[in-house]
Amino acid sequence: MELWIATSNRGKLNEFKLLFEKELPQIKILSLADFPTYSSPPENGQSFLDNARIKARSLKAMKPNTWVMAEDSGLEVEGLGNLPGIHSARYAGPKAADSENVAKLLKMIQIRSSANRAAQFQCCMVVFNPQGEEMIFNGVLKGQIAKTTAGQHGFGYDPVFIPENETKTLAELGMGYKNKHSHRASATAKFIEKLKASL
Ligand code: IMP
Repeated sequence: MELWIATSNRGKLNEFKLLFEKELPQIKILSLADFPTYSSPPENGQSFLDNARIKARSLKAMKPNTWVMAEDSGLEVEGLGNLPGIHSARYAGPKAADSENVAKLLKMIQIRSSANRAAQFQCCMVVFNPQGEEMIFNGVLKGQIAKTTAGQHGFGYDPVFIPENETKTLAELGMGYKNKHSHRASATAKFIEKLKASL
C-alpha cells in the first residue's frame, strides 16, 4: 500500500517515516520529492484545517486512487496574540530559513516585552482514503518559548520550544522525544489507529 504525503519539508517527512516504519512498515511512504512535476497550491486558507485541506485536495486530484495525507502545523505564542500560527513557515518572509523565523520570534517577544512565553504547536492532518472519503486528525504540544536557542536536532522552532514538564528544548530532547510526544506524533497515532482498523 502507498501513502502519498503532501510535503516537501524534510524535517516533517523524517518524522512521518519513523512513525510509520515503527507501526506499519508495509506502507510505502511517498512525498512531493517523489513527484517533481507537481506544483503545490498556494496555502491561502484562514486556519490550519483550511491549509491542510488545500494541500490534501490538490494532491488527491493528482493521485486519486490511493491514500493521500496533508498536514498543516505551526506555533502559537500567547504573548504574541497566537502568532506566528498559520504563518509559521514564512514568519520572517516568503523564503525565510528556520533560523530567520526563530530570530524574528525572539525579537518580537522582546519588542513586546511580553512575559507570557506560553506557546503550543498545533497539527491538523487531512487524509483521503482511496475511495475519496476525508478524515481529520489533530494534535497539540504545549510548552513555552526559551529565552535563547539550544540544541541541534529537529527543525523549525524546535531550538526555542520547551515542552511542558521539561527543562530542555525539543532540539535538545531529539527525535525520540518528538516521536512520542509531539503534535505531529499525536495526530499521526490517531491516523495509524484508523488505518490499522481499515487494513
Ligand atoms: P507548513 O509546512 O506550512 O505546515 O509549516 C509548518 C511550519 O511550522 C514549519 O515550517 C515550522 O516553522 C513550524 N513547525 C511545525 N511543526 C514544527 C515542529 O515540530 N517543530 C518546529 N517547528 C514546527
